[in-house]
This record gives sequence, C-alpha cells and structure tokens, in this order.
Amino acid sequence: MAITIKDIARITNVSATTVSRVLNNKHEGVSLETRQRILDTIRELDYKPNAIARGLVTKKTNTIGIIIPDISNQFFSDIARGIEDGASDHGYNVFLCNTDDKLDKESKYINALKEKCVDGIIFASSSMPNIKIISELIKGSIPVVVVDRHVEIENVYGIYTDNFRGGYIATKHLIDLNHKKIGCITGPLGNHNSKERLDGYKQALLDSCITFNEDLVAEGNYKINGGMKAAEKLIRNKQITALFVSNDLMAYGAYKAIKAAGLNIPEDISIVGFDDTELSQIIEPELTTIRQPAYQMGIEAERALIKIISGKSVKDRNKSFSPNLIIRKSTSKYQAKII
Ligand code: RIB
Repeated sequence: MAITIKDIARITNVSATTVSRVLNNKHEGVSLETRQRILDTIRELDYKPNAIARGLVTKKTNTIGIIIPDISNQFFSDIARGIEDGASDHGYNVFLCNTDDKLDKESKYINALKEKCVDGIIFASSSMPNIKIISELIKGSIPVVVVDRHVEIENVYGIYTDNFRGGYIATKHLIDLNHKKIGCITGPLGNHNSKERLDGYKQALLDSCITFNEDLVAEGNYKINGGMKAAEKLIRNKQITALFVSNDLMAYGAYKAIKAAGLNIPEDISIVGFDDTELSQIIEPELTTIRQPAYQMGIEAERALIKIISGKSVKDRNKSFSPNLIIRKSTSKYQAKII
C-alpha cells in the first residue's frame, strides 16, 4: 500500500496541511525541529507525492508535451533535447511524441496529451498539417508553442528559422561559384518551410538574372530516399552542375544517386544542404550546408511556453533565427569542361 500524506501527518503528529507546506518549501510557521522530523519520516518511508492528487489541488502536473514528426532526424532530436534540458531546469517532466509525419498519430498524441492534462505543448507539425485540429489545439485551454514548422493560425507563438533567407544564401553561394544550371530538391511542398526555401532559391536566381526552370526542381520528402529519387530525376540529362537540397538527409540521398551515376561531388555536381546535422561534417566530401540552431530553437520554445504557463508575457510571438552558410567541401567553382 502506497504511503500517503496522511500517513506522514499521523506519524509525525502534524496536519496534512503542514506536511504539504513542507513538501512545497513553504516553511513559515513550521519549526525547524518539526520540519526536520517530517523530512526524516518522508525519507525513511520513501514517500513519493501522488502527482495526480497534487495536480487536482494545484491544477498543474508540471509536465509538458513535445510533438515532433521524425525523432530519427537529428534536427528534431536536437530540438527535443533543448526542450528537455530547459524543462528539467524549470522542474518540468516531458512526454515526447513522435508522429512519423502521420496525421492520425498527430491527432492521437494531441488527444493523449490533453488527457494527461499536460501544462503545455510544444508542437512541430507534420508535413501536411491538419489546420483544423491544430487550430482547435491552439485555441484550446492548453498553452501551445509552435516550433520550426509555421502554421497559418493567428495569435500562435512560434520559434522558426528564416527559411526564405536560408534558401536564398544557399543558392547565392552556388551562383557566386559560377553555377547557372542549379537544381533544387524541395521538402514536402505542403510544408510551409519547404515552400519558403524554394522561394528563396527562386529569388536568388532572379536577382542574378538566371531564368527559373521548373524542370530543375524536384519535390522530396525530407528523408534520404526522397533525396535519392529526386536527384536521380534531376541528374538524368538535365546537365545541372549544382544542387540546393532542402535538408541534409535528402542531400545524403542525393550523394548516393550522384555517385551511382558515376559522377563526382563537387567536380561534376556541387551540393548545398540545409540543417547542418552532425553527419554533414563526417560524410565524404563534407557537406556545405545551411545551419539552423535546432537545440537553441528548443530552448527558446520551452522558455516561451513556461512564460505562457506562468501567465507572463512573451516579447515576440514569432521569433525567427537567422540561418548561416557553413562552407565545406561539397561545393566548388564551376569550370566549363573542354571536350
Ligand atoms: O530535416 C527536417 C526538416 O524539416 C528541417 O529542415 C526542419 O526545418 C524541418 O521542418
């Protein structure tokens, strides 16, 4: 039988209220001797406060939910790590929900976190977000902070990267290396940040008077296999000399397709990725990419959520991080081949 707060009170000859005050570090009116007797008894009997009972009283569970689409992608595990580190510092536990980019799992986890009465939710939507469900969540009673994947719902708090700028500086880097036939492998175009990166690519071409050719664009799925299939399509007779790939996992897939076609990186095709996950500095040749601060995004999202839970104001509803170009060995200057 689990030890209850009433057992501690009876054994130490004080009221349950006094025990609760000591548990919550509210010592006014409790003598040092009484406090020590209560703490000793709690330790001897290994008493653990009942979280559900406590939640019924405080209306808080000191838990937050994290919903992300792909825990196997280091970008999202870095976000989750930042959230968990911040939550732990603030005395919160986390429930981590991985939706596998599937809408049915996304709905299931949103309902599960509501049933667990979490104090708040940090949410990165699937590639094809269900705006109705997300809108109900955001307009509901549980505070929500959206991270990475923008949702077109007013008054939502969000932590993002400037994806347009990321697509722009990636493409501009290739243009500055004298490339003109630059392909683009996008993320799933139902995803807001995939569209923004593609728009940045288009704008960089336009600003350098390079005509946009939609035949040089292929849609991917933010996974290795999607990058490989899209690259196979683009390198077939397209004479591209460079590729902007909208995330690092797909860039790894593009490597495989380019090497399978007997081509070399960067001599035949230069590649720029997006995210800067750890493998990008291990893969051969090391990947030039756009870094987004995933861990810091997680820290900021958790910080904003705790403020909202505590009824404090959050300075800016949409915090956007600037991406950085990380130049490595997968890009080089284009030189026309003399046949
Ligand atoms: O790698 C996964 C991609 O999807 C990242 O670029 C991130 O922005 C997420 O939206």
